[in-house]
Amino acid sequence: MINLGVLASGRGSNLQAIIDACEGGPLHGQARVAAVVSDNPEARALGRAARHGVPAVVVERRAHKGREAYEQAIVAALRERGVDLVCLAGYMRLVGRVLLEAFPGRVINIHPALLPSFPGLEAQRQALEHGAKVSGCTVHFVDEGTDSGPIILQRAVPVREDDDVDSLSARILEEEHRAYVEAIALHASGLLVVTGRRVHILGEGKEQ
Ligand code: GRF
Repeated sequence: MINLGVLASGRGSNLQAIIDACEGGPLHGQARVAAVVSDNPEARALGRAARHGVPAVVVERRAHKGREAYEQAIVAALRERGVDLVCLAGYMRLVGRVLLEAFPGRVINIHPALLPSFPGLEAQRQALEHGAKVSGCTVHFVDEGTDSGPIILQRAVPVREDDDVDSLSARILEEEHRAYVEAIALHASGLLVVTGRRVHILGEGKEQ
């Protein structure tokens, strides 16, 4: 059983999908959410944690002098709960050295586009405005760049003729919830091996 620490700044629908998967879904017996950390006291993610009895803590950036002190406070909260894997789920800040060095190879993120296309904010709007015919989501390991770490898995969705940002975002979000849970299951089973930029999934392709 691995302990997950989820960092969320807002709505928390990915957090909800992860909690549900741990409670009675595909992650049951494999992982549990041991801590939720938010930089935003208004985050809806905090209410979701409370409803499921998951310990949640607010660590505000402005309460700390620099990014290092801020991240040290986050690391302390995660360590206190014995967190093994840190999952960013709508966490609206770049992650720095302190957090990455505390959890080497153990920080993952979900992004609502097929990276390396459309990193950063408003990825769904970027895809629409670019005229992409296909978009989707990416679960990846986190490095100090913006959505730039090694890719664990991706799911594609069509961009439809009549899509707006909301309809495309909703279609992608459904895939996000499944993909994030799947990536966590792979990690919890020890099936992810990273060599350089490539993430190998042990056992995959054997049947071919
Ligand atoms: C998701 O689209 C995620 O991919 C992005 O931010 C959004 C967070 O949504 N990083 P939620 O807070 O999980 O509902």
